Amino acid sequence: MNILVIGSGAREHAIVKALQRSPQNPILYCCATTHNPGIYLHTKEYWLGNLCDNEAIVHLARQWEIDIAIIGPEAPLECGLADVLWQSSIATIGPQKKLAQIETSKAFTRNLLKKYRIPGSPDYRSFQDLIDVKSFLQTLGEGNYVIKANGLMGGKGVKVAGDHLHSISEAYQFCEELQQLGQSFVIEEKLIGEEFSMLCFCDGNSLIPMPLVQDHKRAFIHDAGPNTGGMGSYSIANHRMPFLTAKDIEQAQHINESVLDALTAEFRARYVGILYGSFMATKEGVRLIEYNARFGDPEAMNVLAILQSDFVTICEALVTGKLQRSQVQFAQLATVCKYAVPEGYPDHPLKNEMIDVSGVQNPEQLYFAAVDERAGQLYATGSRAVAVVGVAETLTAAEKIAEAEINRIKGKLFHRADIGTDQLIEKRVQHMKELRQCYV
Ligand code: AMP
Ligand code: GLY
Repeated sequence: MNILVIGSGAREHAIVKALQRSPQNPILYCCATTHNPGIYLHTKEYWLGNLCDNEAIVHLARQWEIDIAIIGPEAPLECGLADVLWQSSIATIGPQKKLAQIETSKAFTRNLLKKYRIPGSPDYRSFQDLIDVKSFLQTLGEGNYVIKANGLMGGKGVKVAGDHLHSISEAYQFCEELQQLGQSFVIEEKLIGEEFSMLCFCDGNSLIPMPLVQDHKRAFIHDAGPNTGGMGSYSIANHRMPFLTAKDIEQAQHINESVLDALTAEFRARYVGILYGSFMATKEGVRLIEYNARFGDPEAMNVLAILQSDFVTICEALVTGKLQRSQVQFAQLATVCKYAVPEGYPDHPLKNEMIDVSGVQNPEQLYFAAVDERAGQLYATGSRAVAVVGVAETLTAAEKIAEAEINRIKGKLFHRADIGTDQLIEKRVQHMKELRQCYV
């Protein structure tokens, strides 16, 4: 079986590792934007280019006689790569362009939930211009709003009142900036609670959820600093989250299932790929933050590291619309993923600084992201550089493994030492307890 992985970050490295574990021994190919040494070593052909060059990628996929293509990042989904691959009879994991709007347009998603009366949205309005912006900000109230660029901004198009915006005039200024960038935007009520990610496999008919994960979007410890692509994440052995009730999980599942039904009804098309709901547990129940139409990064490293089933079988079942729950088994283990990122990330990262990963003890759980290899030497190119994952029976043990490994990576890098620690988990649990008590 010939499988094409599109993308070359740590998420795609995790996908490649999961495929390599398959007893079916697939032959792997990659269309990449960077030279990822972890992927490169394990692929028969490795093409470097623009992942929105649909024509070139379809041509290669035909030439390589690809059976299944897996699209990792969001940009090629927005460019309609899945559409053209399917049109060329190449079965593809990753939804078509119109379905991927669930990620590529924040306004589309909020409006879809409204149209199909799906619960879980905060109060919101979408804007094409600045008229009424001030009055809507005032309606939500000082400190109670979030502003989001409508389109893809690599996790950096969102600013939250209190954290990044400190007055209505600052908020207005951010809207002006977005408008100058040609972005429409959504302003919504700020949700207070704890975030979690629920990724599901979707074969176009039904959803099979993966273990829940909590990502950490803020750059610095104690959740301070700007939003990033995600600094690290954890999952626990029972596949739930320590601060969630069974009802919270049911609500998130219900929102995901209703959204799949709504997308199917809206477009009369099969959603094949990953549907990833990003939720906030609040004192009033679960609310939707956003959707992604692909594996999360870093969440892919958490879930794929403990996938026990044959990933190739899952991929075949996804594209044929025949995925069964029994085909998707995850080990009852905890995982902690930590990213090492260049000093100055995300606003003013150092670029092209040498890094050294040779001290890492378990390369099986080392994932390359924004790095470049030149003459046998590794360089961090400016975005999240490398991730490590600790896998163990308890979260405490998994965190210790990840922390020890990341400290073995040398270079002008930093990471969040607090991710997955007992103290941080306890803080999350206490936070939810306090919020829920306030509500009675
Ligand atoms: P997004 O790109 O939509 O995932 O947003 C990035 C981050 O902004 C999220 O992970 C949250 O931490 C925060 N955020 C987004 N929407 C809201 C909201 N309505 N209320 C509070 N925080 C939010
Ligand atoms: N974990 C955040 C993302 O993949 O967008």
